[in-house]
Amino acid sequence: MQVLSSIAAVREARAAVGATLGFVPTMGFLHEGHLSLVRRAKTECGAVAVSIFINPTQFAPGEDLDRYPRALERDLDLLRGAGAAFVFTPQAAEMYPPGFATSIDVGPVARPLEGAVRPGHFSGVATVVTKLFNIVQPTRAYFGQKDGQQCAVIRRLVTDLNMPLEVMVCDTVRSESGLALSSRNSYLGAEERERAVLLHESLRAAQARVAAGERDASVVREVVRSVLAREPAFAVDYVSVADPLELNELEWIGDEALVSLAVRVGATRLIDNMVVRPG
Ligand code: PAJ
Repeated sequence: MQVLSSIAAVREARAAVGATLGFVPTMGFLHEGHLSLVRRAKTECGAVAVSIFINPTQFAPGEDLDRYPRALERDLDLLRGAGAAFVFTPQAAEMYPPGFATSIDVGPVARPLEGAVRPGHFSGVATVVTKLFNIVQPTRAYFGQKDGQQCAVIRRLVTDLNMPLEVMVCDTVRSESGLALSSRNSYLGAEERERAVLLHESLRAAQARVAAGERDASVVREVVRSVLAREPAFAVDYVSVADPLELNELEWIGDEALVSLAVRVGATRLIDNMVVRPG
């Protein structure tokens, strides 16, 4: 496995692998969620490339950029084990040299939910992912449903700008307790981690209610909120029942809906979501 930090080296490595390249962009501190994307890419592509880059432009001032967890050597071992062909570990100075000025605004899909709570976040994501795609030139790029709005943003970006690649969205990997794996779970204390199980429970309650015939989205939002309210230490940023592609809040649930939420557990902000369908 090659570990490459310069753009020129990645261009060379890309040219040397075969036609079908799978790509998994990450910010490192890898867990089974990330590795599930790499493994799926391995089964569907001739070779797999991974990037590890804590992209500064998607963090607002005061967010956790400086304390975002890092474990590069461990990450590289895991990726060797998963069979990645090369790993791109760019330097911020080469990604954003003096004079860098372009940013991508993907429009309405980036505005609500995470976009509302974290202004500029998705512009940072869309811009860095575009740069990474242009550098790595993958055939398919793999993203996790865990970040449901990010998937919608990337799909919009790739469609609107005619990027010559396929976006693949993979299921959320969870711990046995149901907690969605996340690098940010490392911020949680043992007790907070136990409490955080309620996030998944609240989504499962929504799913069950919809499967049982509930179509009124406001009732489903209330079901989620009432489960989350069992934990007084939670501060709920939002509970959303929206259409999965455009993320417009629904009044009535048709074929499917994306139920998503963001909760602050102590100092840690967690997100989770589930696509629900009437039974
Ligand atoms: P990061 O948070 O490291 O996540 C990298 C990829 O792993 C994303 O597509 C994310 O949705 C996926 N992922 C994270 N946890 C997962 C889980 N439990 N199950 C399945 N997939 C999971 O998302 C980013 O980095 C950045 O925004 C990035 C796209 C790299 C741009 O900087």
